[in-house]
Amino acid sequence: MPRIFSGIQPTGQLHIGNWLGAVRNWVELQHKYEAIYCVVDLHAITERYDASALPRRTREMAIGLLASGIDPAKAILFVQSHVPEHTTLQWFFTAIAPLGELERMTQFKDKSGKHESIPAGILMYPVLQAADILLYLADLVPVGEDQVQHLEFSRELARRWNTEFSRASPYFPEPKALLTPARRILGLDGQAKMSKSLGNTIGILETPEQVWQKLRPARTDPARVTKSDPGNPDVCNLYTLHKHFSPPETQTMVAEQCRTAGWGCLDCKRLLAEGMEVALKPIRERAVELEAAPLEVDRVLAEGAEKARAIARRTIADVKERMGFMPGAN
Ligand code: TYM
Repeated sequence: MPRIFSGIQPTGQLHIGNWLGAVRNWVELQHKYEAIYCVVDLHAITERYDASALPRRTREMAIGLLASGIDPAKAILFVQSHVPEHTTLQWFFTAIAPLGELERMTQFKDKSGKHESIPAGILMYPVLQAADILLYLADLVPVGEDQVQHLEFSRELARRWNTEFSRASPYFPEPKALLTPARRILGLDGQAKMSKSLGNTIGILETPEQVWQKLRPARTDPARVTKSDPGNPDVCNLYTLHKHFSPPETQTMVAEQCRTAGWGCLDCKRLLAEGMEVALKPIRERAVELEAAPLEVDRVLAEGAEKARAIARRTIADVKERMGFMPGAN
């Protein structure tokens, strides 16, 4: 069975961009593939962060994933820092990771601009991401569009390493990105990608009241100034969300009412809020149960780490052998 791997940073609450672009797909894929999912706390320290809040945020992200439907009986779920082999493989990869390419990464250029003294972790971020994926010899990686460049880098690194150390029969597969139609969800400003760092998100655990407070002022078709102006659903960010949250009949009706100015944008937003509540309510309820059982969550994560580690140890042993390290105690 092909293996899939994916990760998410514990840098804030799971939002509908993460959910539509990646996590909902993770839940589907766990039934078809051998699935491994990871809360990537080591990546989260490449930006300024609050050390005292990290354990809580890591557990919260795990709760968000479990509440979304990741089933520990089907998929391995664990925390990256609980499996030290990730950083071991990252270091091995630094031997072949091309500096020029790391400096050309979009994320490096965006993030390094914000620092006077650039932390090396931002530069090394894609090397650790490649190590995450290749440690499990994953074939497929379900992600949103913003991760495609990092995936290309992982493929390139696998190729280089195979050429250098495993020429006769390639050891690492070249992992492919698995995208969904929701590969790039825009924020409520309708301008930038929905992102934890931009504050333009709707969290999947937010209450209907909180969601409504955010949807009400959200940007729609800018040509619709008054209720009597006809609009164009194809340029309306909220119509895109309708496509992901509302049943097909509602989508058709909303588009028709928008084009003929039958409704105002608030009417359309109310229906969207209803559709979102249908999808998010069961997740919120499950999260409340999990929040009340933190030890159970920790147990699931410890078991996940143990299973992940069994795979990771084998890979590291194979890699060390091929890279010429002297055998010794592991
Ligand atoms: P992160 O934590 O930023 O996001 C987690 C997943 O959510 C997707 N995503 C989106 N999809 C659609 N629209 C959006 N607005 C949106 N925002 C986020 C992301 O594409 C991602 O799939 N570098 C990764 C974490 C990582 C990883 C890995 C991923 C570390 N190691 C190995 C895959 C494999 C990141 O920062 O994702």
